[in-house]
Amino acid sequence: MTRLPLIVANWKMNTSLADAYLLANGVRNALHHLEHTEMVLCPPSVWLGLLAEHSVPPRQYSTLKLGAQNMHAAPAGSYTGEISPAMVREVAEYVIVGHSERVRYGRETVEQSNAKLHAALAHGLTPILCVGEPRKSKDSVRQVVQHLGHLVKGLSNAELREVVVAYEPVWAIGTGDPATPEYAQEVAWVLKQHLPAETRLLYGGSVEPGIAAGFLASPQIDGLLVGGASVNLKKFLTICQHADDTVVSARTATYRHPR
Ligand code: PGA
Repeated sequence: MTRLPLIVANWKMNTSLADAYLLANGVRNALHHLEHTEMVLCPPSVWLGLLAEHSVPPRQYSTLKLGAQNMHAAPAGSYTGEISPAMVREVAEYVIVGHSERVRYGRETVEQSNAKLHAALAHGLTPILCVGEPRKSKDSVRQVVQHLGHLVKGLSNAELREVVVAYEPVWAIGTGDPATPEYAQEVAWVLKQHLPAETRLLYGGSVEPGIAAGFLASPQIDGLLVGGASVNLKKFLTICQHADDTVVSARTATYRHPR
């Protein structure tokens, strides 16, 4: 069976509570048009519990889920301002780990991201692990592979299968300068040589409705991590519709009428 494409919405530090409900309810109400796409909404953590209660109850929808944008690796303790893996697990099924904005503004180290990855898996959360090179260079692919190697240290193959890897070139995030689908596909292909076949691989970085289909057409790319465009309901739904269409057209292309 074809695996459903996965579209992740990273709202970052955006939305009022009213906006959050409008976005989450808007996506939920469009689900009947998007039967072939899995979607994960990652709102600011203060909205997670409310959306889980009123808009996207955990486990109620098979293709719409909630995710946290970050969490602490420790099970509990004196970490003012942080949220634990068990807290996230009560209200969400996914968690973004090692986003470059956590690295840049929160000084998150590779070791901390690795600890979060282990903690997420231990708590039954699906981690969305961000990897990417800081700058465009001839050495980019090698840097990304090395980055991935450090981030997934100590994970078994069975655990790696549960991880969603998001290839996010740092230079493409929030800059309006996305990678080309050809370039993203090339890096994705190399990354997949280092991952079990079941591990899903996303592209992220300045994804907009007009370019989404180009990435989704690649057999190496299983979905998208969308930042800026994900807080605009119309744009986000258009991106999800492109994902759905790729599945439908792939199925139609392989369909043979029985004679
Ligand atoms: P962007 O963000 O789509 O705004 O570039 C992507 C991300 O933060 O993952």
